Amino acid sequence: MNVLGIETSCDETAAAVVSTTGDEARPWRIGSNVIASQAGIHREWGGIVPELASRQHVRDICGVVERALSDAGVTWSGIDALAVTQGPGLVGSLLVGVSFAKAAAASLEKPIVAVHHLAGHIESIVLEHGEIPLPAVVLVVSGGHTSLYLVPDRGRYMLVGRTRDDAAGEAYDKVARLLGLGYPGGPVIDRLARDGRDDAVDLPRPRFTHPDRNRLPPGLAARVARGAPIAEFSFSGLKTAVVRILADRGVPIAAGFDVPTGASPLSQQDVADFCASFQRVVVESLVERTFEAARQLDAKSIGIAGGVSANSRLRRDAAARGAVEGIPVFVPALSLSTDNAAMIAAAGLRKLSRGDRSPLDFNAHATLSLAD
Ligand code: KG4
Ligand code: ZN
Repeated sequence: MNVLGIETSCDETAAAVVSTTGDEARPWRIGSNVIASQAGIHREWGGIVPELASRQHVRDICGVVERALSDAGVTWSGIDALAVTQGPGLVGSLLVGVSFAKAAAASLEKPIVAVHHLAGHIESIVLEHGEIPLPAVVLVVSGGHTSLYLVPDRGRYMLVGRTRDDAAGEAYDKVARLLGLGYPGGPVIDRLARDGRDDAVDLPRPRFTHPDRNRLPPGLAARVARGAPIAEFSFSGLKTAVVRILADRGVPIAAGFDVPTGASPLSQQDVADFCASFQRVVVESLVERTFEAARQLDAKSIGIAGGVSANSRLRRDAAARGAVEGIPVFVPALSLSTDNAAMIAAAGLRKLSRGDRSPLDFNAHATLSLAD
């Protein structure tokens, strides 16, 4: 079975063909995975401009889909079903993919499944590694999300916790702006951090109101089962601390603005130290909560997906901690970490294998819950 996946939730127009293999342990194979990134367009504005994003998706979608078909060596008649991101995301962007996919499904008279973007990120792990030991705890960490899920069975996702405020990737992007490093911030900070000292800048670790502060309260499994998740993350305080420290060091940041308004007195080494220190706090907080949740939920494996899972320190620290604790850690390849359509096709195949089909009148949703 060949599924055409389409993803337009944010600033990437993506299409992919993913096929079933018949092998239960490695159920899917990528035939093609095409991405047209809009990063160059949004970089000029320091972040994503939704109206520009939707317009660019309209320009790119036909070419990207045609390329995905030709790269996979299939024609439209070789497509058995369509899978498209329904949400969450920018609604104007989502609508381009949803409308395109519905039109294709209607004219081909093929089934279509609406896919949750985060289900796609979670299934990107299986696309890369094959089925992983369950139950698994999966951290989805991207520009728009920082959420932990319990995957008790294939294709079931239960929310364990999420960020109270900013997503980790959003914090990377904001701190990169403050340091004058451009957009998207994650890859640049990751690179510069290599030359910095991670204890050079004293940044606060996120604090919570639980009695034991930075540890998860006991009884997580019961909470997850009754839909009352608790394992929260928080990154907005960290950004505020960076603003304050930079201002103290004489970086000209005007009140209410999050970009420097003049020349920065920071040396290249200072910037590298900031990057390394910021990265350490973010990664420690992600790794700590994920492993704590895995311990409490008796997980047999840990997955990390989403744009920030491309982070070199997160990959290294999580793998090292997994080795110490004896729990395998699975992270997708870099090409499957950031937004792509192969992961959407994979999550679509997961639903199709259960007999799920979406009616042609489904809509795009800016916010959408994944937990069942
Ligand atoms: O999954 P994704 O492509 O889009 C969303 O669904 O948001 O994630 C994009 C986010 C951006 O915030 C970007 O700065 C971050 O992923 N990112 C990274 C790295 N590569 C991308 N963050 C930290 N380190 C990286 N190497
Ligand atoms: Zn994403």
